[in-house]
Amino acid sequence: MCGIVGVVGERNAIPVLVEGLSRLEYRGYDSAGVAVAYQGRLDLCRASGKLVNLREQLRQKPLMGFAGIGHTRWATHGAPTERNAHPHVSAKVAVVHNGIIENYLELRQRLTAAGVVFASETDTEVIPHLIQQALDRGLDPGGAVRAALRQLRGAFALGILFRDHPDLLVAARRGSPLILGLGEGENFIGSDATPLVPYTRRMVYLEDDDVALLDRHRVAITDLDGRPVERSVKQSQVTGEVTEKWPYRHFMQKEIFEQPTAIGETLKGLIDPMGRTVASTLLQGLDAKAISTLNIVACGTSYHAGLVARYWIEDLAGIPVMVDVASEFRYRNSPLVPNGLTLVISQSGETADTLAALRHVKAGGQRVIAIVNVPESTMAREADQMFQTRAGPEIGVASTKAFTTQLVVLAVVALALAKARNRLTPQREQELVGNLLQLPAHIEQVLSQDEAILAIARHLMHATGFLFLGRGTCFPIALEGALKLKEISYIHAEGYAAGEMKHGPIALIDEELPVVVVAPRDGLFDKMISNLQEVRARGGRVVLLSNGGDADNGHAVAADFALDLPRCGDFVDPLLYVVPLQLLAYHIAVLKGTDVDQPRNLAKSVTVE
Ligand code: AGP
Repeated sequence: MCGIVGVVGERNAIPVLVEGLSRLEYRGYDSAGVAVAYQGRLDLCRASGKLVNLREQLRQKPLMGFAGIGHTRWATHGAPTERNAHPHVSAKVAVVHNGIIENYLELRQRLTAAGVVFASETDTEVIPHLIQQALDRGLDPGGAVRAALRQLRGAFALGILFRDHPDLLVAARRGSPLILGLGEGENFIGSDATPLVPYTRRMVYLEDDDVALLDRHRVAITDLDGRPVERSVKQSQVTGEVTEKWPYRHFMQKEIFEQPTAIGETLKGLIDPMGRTVASTLLQGLDAKAISTLNIVACGTSYHAGLVARYWIEDLAGIPVMVDVASEFRYRNSPLVPNGLTLVISQSGETADTLAALRHVKAGGQRVIAIVNVPESTMAREADQMFQTRAGPEIGVASTKAFTTQLVVLAVVALALAKARNRLTPQREQELVGNLLQLPAHIEQVLSQDEAILAIARHLMHATGFLFLGRGTCFPIALEGALKLKEISYIHAEGYAAGEMKHGPIALIDEELPVVVVAPRDGLFDKMISNLQEVRARGGRVVLLSNGGDADNGHAVAADFALDLPRCGDFVDPLLYVVPLQLLAYHIAVLKGTDVDQPRNLAKSVTVE
């Protein structure tokens, strides 16, 4: 997603902007740019591609200014070219924008009719010209910004500079996150806290339709009508050090191998020394017995975590669970059942569709719990209750450790709900919690098979399509394995409920199509092996993930490639079986030479619809 950074202070803004943009690279982008207001000019530097191109341009043509804005662009309207890179300018105004202006075409037509000549194909470029029109009518910068914003429909987080006010930085947001950083003799803006923490930990989280005017000593926030609003100052806990990937080749590889630690960290706050779930902490004030239904809403990998949780919560707690992708849920007008509870799951805590779903449910009077990895995110602040996954910063666009730590939180929530509804004996709770506590060691065992997984990747890297099959709690793991592969290797892949194969996908089976069968030896194992035989009978190449050891060689022969995983209890199989699928996708992508950490077209946090 686009990244914004801005500063107004007593030092040259350019180094702050470039360092800030490098801290925002993880969000995914395809061009970048900066602007400074200095000596009656707006000086601009923009480059397509990665930040290294912008740095080279700035080396050749250094800029100077005490107020500046920077942007990494994830293209929505207009190709990822220098012409479409932000900042966008009028004669007196420079703007960087994260979001989508939904009525930009009508605004562009109106401005063109008024004589404006547009330089880009972007929706953003209407904003500086609308502000300029208001300035030309005699409004001051704050009034001009408010007048322009009242004409916009859609989402925006904005950083704005003024040619004639070199000590002023203006920020505004609606639907896209934007933070102010309060320094000494300098003030900052950022899409999140990461570019700001080297300079300050004092943050102000703007709310929708806030307009903030910053100079080096003061910050003034108003609503769209110019009325002052008060926003509290929060101390950010975001780690300041730039996460390094060394000694790994990629952040994704590092984060796959960090999962045992991340899972251990996440469990710490959820399990007491007696090995019991800390239900009271989890279900603060919630009458678990009264819950009629549970809605789980999320996107992408986080949605897959919700799909796994449905099996756990329905089986253990006896609560009916509906799981939805947020982009469908928010428009389906699903009735909010009395005594229902909604769970939103999000690594970033900023995904636009999931945030909109949270707000929709809250507006309907239902309680919302958010499971997020970023404790200062918008969802964490707006939910009634927040459970944090303690995965640490996840930089790779493809989500890995956030997913397994989401599953840890969801597993403990399922146990806590079951216990609160008197459906879980202490013995059973100790057994299942024991499975969770042993998981880091079992995942280490799976990670030790990395070379074997690389060998399989070498055999399969030229396939043009994959099918992933699973049943029960491993059906969502098949979906997740397919998503991992397609989003970083660009090979089409599809996850399917194994029982559904005969209802269509079996037509795809031939010797070219690798079929990954996720089959722990649980109650559905024999049915999975039948599906595997159906694939083999049609010449399909099978990759079997199971935990039979050599106890049943018959099945091992039935696969072209087999991985033998540790047995750690059906309950936690999903968390174990996703790891080889993450590694398979990672190795195939590396062998194909794609940009593993920032795959094409993808963003780490999708803050636009
Ligand atoms: C996962 O590998 C993808 N990068 C993507 O599907 C992601 O899970 C989705 O965009 C949701 O993001 P969130 O968890 O931050 O809400």
